[in-house]
Amino acid sequence: MNPINSKLPNVGTTIFTKMSAMANEHGAINLSQGFPGFEADKNLTALVTKYLNEGKNQYAPMPGLLELRVTLCNYLQKTYGSEINPNSEITVTAGATQAIYNTISAIIRPGDEVILFSPAYDCYAPAIEVHGGIPVFVPLDHPDYSINWEAVKKQMNSKTKLILINSPHNPTGSLVTKKDLEQLQEIVSGTEVLILSDEVYEHITFDGANHESVLAYPELKKRSMVVYSFGKSLHVTGWKLGFCVAPEWWMDEFRKMHQYTVFSCNSPMQYAINDYILNHKPFGDTSEFYERKRDLFLASIKESRFKVIPCKGTYFQLLDYSEISDMNDVEFAEKLTKEHGIASIPVSVFYPDLEDNKVLRFCFAKEDDLLIKAGKILCTI
Ligand SMILES: Cc1ncc(COP(=O)(O)O)c(C=O)c1O
Repeated sequence: MNPINSKLPNVGTTIFTKMSAMANEHGAINLSQGFPGFEADKNLTALVTKYLNEGKNQYAPMPGLLELRVTLCNYLQKTYGSEINPNSEITVTAGATQAIYNTISAIIRPGDEVILFSPAYDCYAPAIEVHGGIPVFVPLDHPDYSINWEAVKKQMNSKTKLILINSPHNPTGSLVTKKDLEQLQEIVSGTEVLILSDEVYEHITFDGANHESVLAYPELKKRSMVVYSFGKSLHVTGWKLGFCVAPEWWMDEFRKMHQYTVFSCNSPMQYAINDYILNHKPFGDTSEFYERKRDLFLASIKESRFKVIPCKGTYFQLLDYSEISDMNDVEFAEKLTKEHGIASIPVSVFYPDLEDNKVLRFCFAKEDDLLIKAGKILCTI
């Protein structure tokens, strides 16, 4: 018996699970899923042990540990010049995924339209659809994956409730520029359109570029929910902790959802993260750390036939294989995993219509020797 009429009939096992399983089965180097292949800082894990042993093991306050919220607001003020009220405008969440889901659950009603960009990270569209909303995809311009604002304008109408942006961008590694955010500002000004800005890779930008946050743009900030992830910023994706920031009227509604989804998040880790940010200042060199890994990976594939699509941020490198094969990207990614021992993600899976530009995504948040080994394999293809 199965009396359920699925709310998400088209959602199956994600490609990330599939490719990781295939990588395991074939003993392949796994550059598919986006998680660091190295340990978190021992100072951070030691702090978790400390707070566990000190008995910080009961519920944290619903919006998150106040000390941590204050620390984060000070950080945001210093970094983006943005004044955030720690009591009413920030909430600690079970990762960015929960923040995104509950942001959408708080505001999207059946028939509301959400403009988002393809290729898109995979948790956005299902969250919209499950609430009866309509995802309206605007394709990023291939191959530089920039935003076509004229195309965005054409999609806007009285049903547009939300525009969802993501920078640094997964899967493409592109960044929004100051000019992009000024265009966005112009497009939404005089409307009631809201913005959800996924900035989980805020600390990973390359070649001297700074992360442009909507928080630094007052006209955007006043209508934006911005989400962040400690998984990305502290190399601890398995902790599933993050936070989000919005004006009080929006955060009030968000918290109504948050409190009946998770109520509050893991308490000892919030103490540990607060202590760690205050005493170890972890965010300063993350870009440099990953830029070196990106460059190592690029140097190791220099002699390959793959074409590099510039990566300006995140820990994902796109490679175009159109000069190597005309197989579709899913088949080619499977072949690489099974026959050559290297797993990646085909970028078509991030498009609603599975647009195939013959591009694969490789995660370079891995140990150096693994990146060099992967590069050597790619040079043989
Ligand atoms: C663009 C983007 N947003 C959100 C998330 C989810 O973050 P978290 O693990 O904190 O839920 C990810 C994770 O890969 C991501 O790449």
